Amino acid sequence: MQIYLDHSATTPLHRDVAAAMAAAAQDWGNTSSLHRWGERSLEVIERSRQRVMQLLGATQGQVVFTSGGTESNNLAILGIARRYLTPQHLVISAIEHAAVAEPVRWLEQHGWAVTRLPVDTLGRVAPQDLQQSLRPNTVLVSVIYAHNEVGTIQDVAKLGHICRTAGVCFHTDAVQAVGRVPVDVSRLPVDLLSFSAHKFYGPQGMGGLYVADGIALVPLHFGGGQEGGLRSGTPAVGLIAGLGQAAHLARETMLQEGDRLGALRDRLRQLLAAVPELVPTGDWQQRLPHHLSFCHPTLAGRRLVWAMNLAGIAMSSGSACSSGQVKPSATLLAMGYDPTAASGGIRLSLGWDTTVADVDWAALALVQAIARLRGES
Ligand SMILES: Cc1ncc(COP(=O)(O)O)c(C=O)c1O
Repeated sequence: MQIYLDHSATTPLHRDVAAAMAAAAQDWGNTSSLHRWGERSLEVIERSRQRVMQLLGATQGQVVFTSGGTESNNLAILGIARRYLTPQHLVISAIEHAAVAEPVRWLEQHGWAVTRLPVDTLGRVAPQDLQQSLRPNTVLVSVIYAHNEVGTIQDVAKLGHICRTAGVCFHTDAVQAVGRVPVDVSRLPVDLLSFSAHKFYGPQGMGGLYVADGIALVPLHFGGGQEGGLRSGTPAVGLIAGLGQAAHLARETMLQEGDRLGALRDRLRQLLAAVPELVPTGDWQQRLPHHLSFCHPTLAGRRLVWAMNLAGIAMSSGSACSSGQVKPSATLLAMGYDPTAASGGIRLSLGWDTTVADVDWAALALVQAIARLRGES
């Protein structure tokens, strides 16, 4: 039996997405061409853009297609920073994904001042900390919307409101949130918001950035001026068609699917209560519906992932993008866990085809794996 419980790392392509991409393979014209081949491709990408706009509550001219969450985050951060000739001040949280933390670290190495906001034990940024961190030369705040590793959803409305009142640009990495929970930019005080197709059954290598009206960015690269000049290069029509279909599906099914997965998540959490030392991490009230995370006080998360892999079950330790590393999780350290516990983080993330039987089987396998590894230690 194979059970995939690592949907926060990536999701399988939905069959309707694969079908939309296959259909778009017929539309291989260059969108810049003036003939009908080009027109057809342009139609495909503009239909997809409409679907993404509907998912996000965005309007015309506000959605830029990119190669995914990493590029969107880099475009947001470096795109703002490059407007300034001299280093300014930036604010991020202490638990950002590497796709935010690393471009910010690069800016820091080039003279920018950076404040990293602390988080509480549930992984939440305190609005008053953000308020106090702002300086006259703060030009950007970036706080992750929903956390990849611990599932916590921030109070983005409150954080964004503080920035808007102060006249500071606010970016949020919503890669784990978009397609999973309702995100409506028409009601949120955000200026820039990143998303990625492969987190909600779309293709890998495809994503986008919401850019509010009036927010000027300097592009990461220069060329033919596609995507309103923000992302030069011939658009990947097939991938964009896949993103559009995934956005359409997400809009239609997100609420119902969120309820179903939320119930499965709670069931799995209850079953894992059989292992009292397995401590739930993150905020279980304001949380992604498909996401569970725990830490074990003595067993390394990687050992648990290997044991579960042998049992045919996929999960992850810490964040998928850093699971090649042996270091304790920076997120769990920032949340106040000691280094041993911060090495014992695991994440199980559910998806479209997860069933009650899967959850029950995974819980049993994990309880047994922990008992066995404890005996070996
Ligand atoms: C919160 C977050 N931001 C950014 C990314 C990077 O997105 P992509 O894989 O589309 O580059 C990920 C991927 O794991 C993520 O979880």
